[in-house]
Amino acid sequence: MRHLSVPSKETSLWRDRLDSQGWLVEGLGIHNLGKFRGIPINDTAPQSIENLEIVNLQPLTPGPKHWTERLDPELFSKHQSEWPMSHDQIGDVIIIKLPESVQNHSIAIGEAMLKQNSNARVICADNGVKGQFRVRGLSVIASNGSDETLTKVKENGHEFWVDPGAAYYSPRLANERLATVNCAKELSATLGRKISVCDPYAGVGPALVPLANTEIIDKVFASDLNPNAADLLAKNLPSSWSECRDARTLADELPECCDLLLVNLPHDSIDHLPDLLGLLRKGHQVVIRGWAITPLDALADIRKRITSILSDSEIVSLEIEANRSYSPNDTYACYEAHIIRN
Ligand SMILES: C[S@@+](CC[C@H](N)C(=O)[O-])C[C@H]1O[C@@H](n2cnc3c(N)ncnc32)[C@H](O)[C@@H]1O
Repeated sequence: MRHLSVPSKETSLWRDRLDSQGWLVEGLGIHNLGKFRGIPINDTAPQSIENLEIVNLQPLTPGPKHWTERLDPELFSKHQSEWPMSHDQIGDVIIIKLPESVQNHSIAIGEAMLKQNSNARVICADNGVKGQFRVRGLSVIASNGSDETLTKVKENGHEFWVDPGAAYYSPRLANERLATVNCAKELSATLGRKISVCDPYAGVGPALVPLANTEIIDKVFASDLNPNAADLLAKNLPSSWSECRDARTLADELPECCDLLLVNLPHDSIDHLPDLLGLLRKGHQVVIRGWAITPLDALADIRKRITSILSDSEIVSLEIEANRSYSPNDTYACYEAHIIRN
């Protein structure tokens, strides 16, 4: 079929022009030809249009819009309203929650999803987050080759390895990590030098990778109690100190190592805080940036508890932001304390 090859930036302009002349073939896809796009034209279109090239290409028939359209129609209509309509994709791993009523059809679901998502390699059923390491229970239901869930992601322009079946990682917190980079830059400007950062609940290191790539960081200390996370930390931060450690004893090993401390253990963040203070340097401004899941009506209590834990230090400022909801009653709050330890 004939296609008019137009500069990609002018695609919608040309599509409208061809449509208004009655030369467009509707219902077919537009070819991606690099810097050009191929728009299908019909037999009434002239042999030449404004010196643009006309090329012969296979017509692009649009595929199904959703993977459920690839299921056997009889099976689909049997469970019509029960098919999960959304999923998460982490790198080339797709994670989907399957309601019990369709779990018997996981192979058909996995195959349909693989066909629909050409950039996916593995489809996993999500059995929920488990244990203190907050790791997802995943069962592979379809794959193109390897079943492993180790994959590479790109977040805010930075690439790193994750394994959603072995260590915690949530792409939903990418904005929090951008804010952490800004916080680090401000602290470095205040101190007039490079700063050191410690993340004792680092997971696979998503908060540290973008920091390690900046000019403002001197040393990075990364650890996690989950050995799988620690392995990925070493892979993602090859030039940093990274180990498998319990955060509550890390200050014995690394006393006063950092200017910026991250505390991302949202269910127990405040309980652990007293054991972490020894990681912070003394005699100048340092920052604690932490996250806590708390009932919305308990924010004043959180402020009181943090203030009390920091009572041996001068508190320069303490901000608590509760702008992300966790559940109908709970918020995922971020607290940032600027303090000077004596
Ligand atoms: C909510 S995740 C945060 C991970 C990472 N900071 C991120 O943003 O992706 C909490 C992490 O703390 C780790 N963890 C739980 N208890 C710990 C402890 N006592 N000491 C060190 N790490 C711990 C878990 O394995 C998990 O990776």
